[in-house]
Amino acid sequence: MSDLRISIHDDRAALGRAAAGIAARALRDACDLKNAATLVVATGSSQFEVLAELAAVAAIPWEVITIFHLDEYVGLEPTHPASFRRFLRERFIERLPSPPAAFHELDGMAGDPYAECDRLAGLVPQGPFDVAMIGIGENGHLAFNDPPADFDTTVPYHVVDLDARCRQQQVGEGWFPLLDAVPTQAISMSVQRILATGALVCSVPDRRKAEAVQATVEAPITPAVPASILQQHPRCFLQLDREAASLLRPCDALAK
Ligand code: GLP
Repeated sequence: MSDLRISIHDDRAALGRAAAGIAARALRDACDLKNAATLVVATGSSQFEVLAELAAVAAIPWEVITIFHLDEYVGLEPTHPASFRRFLRERFIERLPSPPAAFHELDGMAGDPYAECDRLAGLVPQGPFDVAMIGIGENGHLAFNDPPADFDTTVPYHVVDLDARCRQQQVGEGWFPLLDAVPTQAISMSVQRILATGALVCSVPDRRKAEAVQATVEAPITPAVPASILQQHPRCFLQLDREAASLLRPCDALAK
């Protein structure tokens, strides 16, 4: 039985407001409790409205919030238009009303990406993150954990190979001019480390994600559909627009 909390919104703007609202409440709750919080942020077109809305929410004490970066291409300059560091700096960090306690970026240009994973492993908290903003790829990936995903590794970050469908999605969204320009490897937060989060806010707009959403919600949990493991998480808020939800069975779609 899935614990997913599914909400279906009329459009991307409404989805973004709702996702930001859930994250803001969870961050404020964590800060009220311990005067500190951790937040993981994702990239990709699914996060455009979400991060813009979250940066604009009032009364979040950013100065006590430590931010972690979900994934980054290996070998991509931070000035490249597809760089996730650039995306997060321009679309989120620089828009916050005050600087966060820290923003732990992934350096995809680090000489040794495995050492970069180890560096980040020394920075992540011992316990769970408070909130993570995530998406689901057209191939059902979580962060850059493409199918078949490693559900078992307990390292926080690892170096992964990107599959053809994932790389093609990046071309389709206009981040790269052609497939050969898309890096073949990335540093990604592991599936287990993503799951070790108090509140997962998973935002998925667009018709092109409908098959992946259907498999995530309705298929058995399998590494072939990495996001299907979200069914096991007790507080995963799956935020969909009508098009992304269009293939769900009525009973799942009504779970909103
Ligand atoms: C992208 C990014 C992740 C994101 C996921 C889904 O490629 N690497 O940070 O969470 O994969 O992204 P999108 O929703 O844009 O497909």
